[in-house]
Amino acid sequence: MKSFYITTAIDYVNGSPHLGHAYEKVLTDVIARFRRQMGDCVHFLTGVDEHGQKVQQSAKKKGIAPQQFADEVSAEFRALLPKLNISNDDFIRTTEERHKKVVRQVLQQLFDKGEIYKAEYKGFYSTRQEQFLQEKDRLPDGKWPEIFGEVTEIVESNYFFKLKQYQDWLVEFLTKNEDFIFPRYRQKQVLEFLKEPLNDLCISRPRERLEWGISLPFDDGYVTYVWFDALLNYYSAVADKPGVWPAAYHVIGKDILLPPHAVYWPIMLKAAGIPLPGGIIAHGWWMTAGAKMSKSTGNALNPLDLVTEFGADAFRYFLIREMNVGQDSDFTREQFLVRYNSELANNFGNLVNRTLNMTNRFAAGIVPAAEVVEDAERELHTLWEATRAEVLPLCEGFQFHAALEKTMFFITATNAYIEKRAPWKLGKSAEAHDLALLRTSIATMAEALRLGNALLTAVMPDAVAKINAVLGYTPGATWSEELVWGARITGSKVAESLVLFPRPAPPEKPPVAPKK
Ligand code: ME8
Ligand code: MG
Repeated sequence: MKSFYITTAIDYVNGSPHLGHAYEKVLTDVIARFRRQMGDCVHFLTGVDEHGQKVQQSAKKKGIAPQQFADEVSAEFRALLPKLNISNDDFIRTTEERHKKVVRQVLQQLFDKGEIYKAEYKGFYSTRQEQFLQEKDRLPDGKWPEIFGEVTEIVESNYFFKLKQYQDWLVEFLTKNEDFIFPRYRQKQVLEFLKEPLNDLCISRPRERLEWGISLPFDDGYVTYVWFDALLNYYSAVADKPGVWPAAYHVIGKDILLPPHAVYWPIMLKAAGIPLPGGIIAHGWWMTAGAKMSKSTGNALNPLDLVTEFGADAFRYFLIREMNVGQDSDFTREQFLVRYNSELANNFGNLVNRTLNMTNRFAAGIVPAAEVVEDAERELHTLWEATRAEVLPLCEGFQFHAALEKTMFFITATNAYIEKRAPWKLGKSAEAHDLALLRTSIATMAEALRLGNALLTAVMPDAVAKINAVLGYTPGATWSEELVWGARITGSKVAESLVLFPRPAPPEKPPVAPKK
């Protein structure tokens, strides 16, 4: 079995999780579940980033110790995972000993090899981004961009990692491995960024300024820069699991591609003699009213509210259907309701109900065998073949929004097939051919539902399992045989009914302003 290791970014525990964090977990979960369907041996890691200034500051604000603060917020992030039906195999916290041990080992090794040196630094520092700034980071008017928050000038001695000497190597690596970063246009941006000379990376923070971190193994007057610590989680979590590294794919947001994931991370690994991962998938942002949802701006949506109201399956479906991986999307409740009603309730849910209803009404609840193949059946078979042939490569290429669109198109066509055959009319006939067509139409809709449902496995795992259960069908573990049109459920006893996507209450009208 092919090994496939997939990770999310690890979230800062400086505030509660929001829709952006939920999306990243769901997207990564969809990739993980898809790879399992393809027969890969998947290992799925997620976790939290607990060190650094942001967390220290948030703890201070609350008047509690950073560890206690991290414990509380981490528990919140962790609790979100089962609510979203995330199938992660492991959850890492950067305060765990297994992680700290590997960070210290890598630092010591790089120090012994002469890849880390001490020097005096004078310049500007952004606490929000935990990053030293350069003149080129300024806006044309001399101010610092908003994303850096408060910027202060500092002078201090620190340890530096020799990033610059690997610049040519990285350019060559990215030039040779065109698909290292998805989407490809992001990889081009990284190469563009690498046209400017890199600076060595400051990897320490003096203890007086930041206490909350991993001590440098060679100088405990300093703690490790949070990014140097955090990136290593991908490796520390599997360092003792043979065969997992380096078949690794990192799912992250576009804001943390450059420079941490696209520059620091490959160079850290190269310098430490660790093989590079397979690739990086950089998704876009969920926005509200045109602005990035974020913990610091307070415009974030609580994902749990939607999950409570509509269920995890509908929530996952919306996120994956709406967003083209790599691009941004605006979240609106209206758009959520449109997709919920038209695609899930009226289209997919309707097919499930009709299939159960007609199998019970006209075939005593047992899926019959197809007896005739006429144009209507042939067309649906052909559409199925085309759908399967398109959906698999789309999923391989992370185009899940398009894969869902094709799948829904097939579901729509199956509903149209039912309209055309009109089993409720055939059921009134006494003609032998009509009755053969009636049995055929039930067999066909049931098989089409089984197949369309299978294509939704990675996105709506609970709904898919419920549908298989009411169809009396036990699917195999992978798609290699699942997706073949056959007579898989002929003879199955189906359930009476299944309520999958109940209609939500109509959205509340905004209160009318009182007349003056
Ligand atoms: O960056 N839409 O943590 P974080 C989509 N600890 N994704 C979003 C988003 C939005 N509105 N807001 C945030 C960190 N994200 C570091 C990562 S990895 C070794 C260390 C994504 O809590 C963001 O892009 O700020 C990132 O991938 C993840 O949520 C965690 O963000
Ligand atoms: Mg962030």
